[in-house]
Amino acid sequence: MIAAITATAKYLPKRVLSNFDLEKIVDTSDAWIKSRTGIETRRLVSEGQASADMATKVAKILLERTKTDKDKIDLIIIATVTPDTMFPSTAARVQNMIDAQNCWGFDLSGACTGFIYALETGAKFIESGKYKKVMVIGVDTMSAIIDYTDRNTCVLFGDGAGGVLLEPSTTKNGIIDSMLKIDGSGGESLIMPGGGSLHPASADTVNKKMHYVHQDGKTVFKFAVKGMADISSDILKKNNYTGNDVKLFIPHQANKRIIDATAKRCGISDDNVLINIDKYGNTTAGTIPIGMDEAVSEGIIKDGDLVLISSFGAGFTWGSMLIRWGN
Ligand code: ACO
Repeated sequence: MIAAITATAKYLPKRVLSNFDLEKIVDTSDAWIKSRTGIETRRLVSEGQASADMATKVAKILLERTKTDKDKIDLIIIATVTPDTMFPSTAARVQNMIDAQNCWGFDLSGACTGFIYALETGAKFIESGKYKKVMVIGVDTMSAIIDYTDRNTCVLFGDGAGGVLLEPSTTKNGIIDSMLKIDGSGGESLIMPGGGSLHPASADTVNKKMHYVHQDGKTVFKFAVKGMADISSDILKKNNYTGNDVKLFIPHQANKRIIDATAKRCGISDDNVLINIDKYGNTTAGTIPIGMDEAVSEGIIKDGDLVLISSFGAGFTWGSMLIRWGN
């Protein structure tokens, strides 16, 4: 049994925050942000909008596109580091908002690699034969945990959601292979330290800005390039492919320079790399499924095409997956 992606969907909030807007908030410039990251604009949620709202929009599009009865969904997996609440899960809120009556669900925390972790998890449920329709959604409301006085982080992130419906493949198309890693020794380099059981929320944690993203950008950059390049070339080699066989590489969108270095190491030409970081910035768990939906709706990938996805994020977590597109 192979798990196949039978539909993709995305949701980006309407509000646009440009580099020029950020120039008015922190000591930065459009030229610096563009040259160091590739980002020009990012989207932000409106007042009161949270991760489950964005994920629900994605879930509804998935149901519509596949003409699936909401009560036929078996499982909802939400990859996020910005759940609406610590508990209940964002998956529970999405279930309620789409009124799916016969499913279970959970959130999964894998930071920027969250969507690939969730896709792997969802695929295993399909491959078990017990589950037929699994929604996998990556969503993050990064604006909720970003310090807009810290130029090191606030220029990098945006809000957004994307997702897929997984079903048993009716052909040989689907998820071919995956390689996933975690290494907690890099944990301090990219962290939101406050609000968990280690540093429960208090006036002190708020004063120390512990509920925001803290990042050592240079260290993350170095490990991200090595992690994504190594694991992407390893998965290609393991499956007897080269970069030339890849119709589309959909990388996590954290930094254009990380993407370029990874593609180069894998021998994938620039024309075969999906880039949308200029428009959306880093939406954490959202980047890859948003990219997948763009590629499908623009006709860039078709059934039978070989697609490589790869990501690196807080943890550190990283991984790659090979997909023969279609079902
Ligand atoms: N505007 C202007 N200057 C800035 C800004 C900014 N927004 N941010 C930092 N700087 C300054 C720093 O203060 C530093 O100044 P200093 O040397 O006087 O101390 C200088 O720029 C650093 O410059 P560079 O070395 O050229 O920066 P670098 O090439 O490392 O780029 C960046 C910084 C963009 C953060 C990069 O390290 C990066 O992208 N790292 C990966 C981080 C990331 O994407 N994390 C997201 C989550 S993990 C993931 O998704 C992979």
